[in-house]
Amino acid sequence: MNIGILTGGGDCPGLNAVIRAVVKRGLQFGYEFTGIRDGWRGLIQPKPSTMKLTRQAVSGLLPLGGTILGTSRTNPFKDPKDTETLLRNIKDLKLDAIICIGGDDTLSVAEKLFARGIKTIGVPKTIDNDLSGTDFTFGFDTAVSIVTWALDRLHSTTEAHQRVMVVEVMGRHAGWIAVYGGIAGGADVILIPEKPFDVEEVCGYIKKRKEAGKNFSLVVAAEGAYPKEAGGMITKDKELDAFGHAKLGGVGEFLASEIEKRLGLESRFVVLGHLQRGGTPTAYDRVLATRFGVRAIEMVNEGKFGRMVALQGNKIVDISLQEATAKLKTVDMEMYRTAQIFFG
Ligand code: F6P
Repeated sequence: MNIGILTGGGDCPGLNAVIRAVVKRGLQFGYEFTGIRDGWRGLIQPKPSTMKLTRQAVSGLLPLGGTILGTSRTNPFKDPKDTETLLRNIKDLKLDAIICIGGDDTLSVAEKLFARGIKTIGVPKTIDNDLSGTDFTFGFDTAVSIVTWALDRLHSTTEAHQRVMVVEVMGRHAGWIAVYGGIAGGADVILIPEKPFDVEEVCGYIKKRKEAGKNFSLVVAAEGAYPKEAGGMITKDKELDAFGHAKLGGVGEFLASEIEKRLGLESRFVVLGHLQRGGTPTAYDRVLATRFGVRAIEMVNEGKFGRMVALQGNKIVDISLQEATAKLKTVDMEMYRTAQIFFG
């Protein structure tokens, strides 16, 4: 059997660990592996862009950030000509199955392909942790660790200068990174896309702290968080990607300037951006990525397609790609209430 592997969407620590696990376990079944370069983009070229994934090619990948296959946010179903090329390339490359490592966009393509008779399996990847049916996606733990590291450092400088620091973290439609990172880093306010905020209320928490003798505050805002009065997310420009997503950014700057104006307190903002996605995965993400990879290729061996591997409790299970991509997994409000106990 010749198995294709691709990584799509934003990169995420642990992608290489999945590739390594799939290939190492798959070699035990006698499979061959074709790595598809740059996500779906690699399959819509007249000459597909691929590489052989041998034991040697995956050696040393476990701690490596990024993806040796490259990635892109290409949507091969946007233009019917691309879809045609995609299907032709899959046939010409004689791919018996494709393991698609990606978030909701990449996996929605995997689901469409499955509906057309291509044997696909999904592995849930995103630092945002917003895929349904899995308690965690790999990459999330690394992102949260980086946010915690950053907050610990920002804490001391913010306190020394008696400032307000607004830290903008990733999280487009779901504020999981903000909530977990914010709780771990002791944030005084945490803002998430699921709950549009009131600037006056945010200022109220900071004022309350000041009255209690705390002359500094740390605010964590997910990039997708927005003030009630704005009625929508703050974007960098009007440009949309192939899946219709705008480039987010600006809530940190907006909030720091509002706080300074309304409270007269010196404020700064920091955008952690792609720092949260780079570099080596944590031990937790290496283990989760490895478990996902092993199960994905075992599912090929069992002939179980159109499904995504998932973590439920401490068990690796599988759910249909349809269920996984039907809706995003937003922050559990019970969890947010725990975070709120520490506001102000
Ligand atoms: O894929 C998720 C994500 O990390 C979002 O939180 C963020 O909006 C986006 O990626 C940024 O991606 P890009 O690399 O395209 O700037």
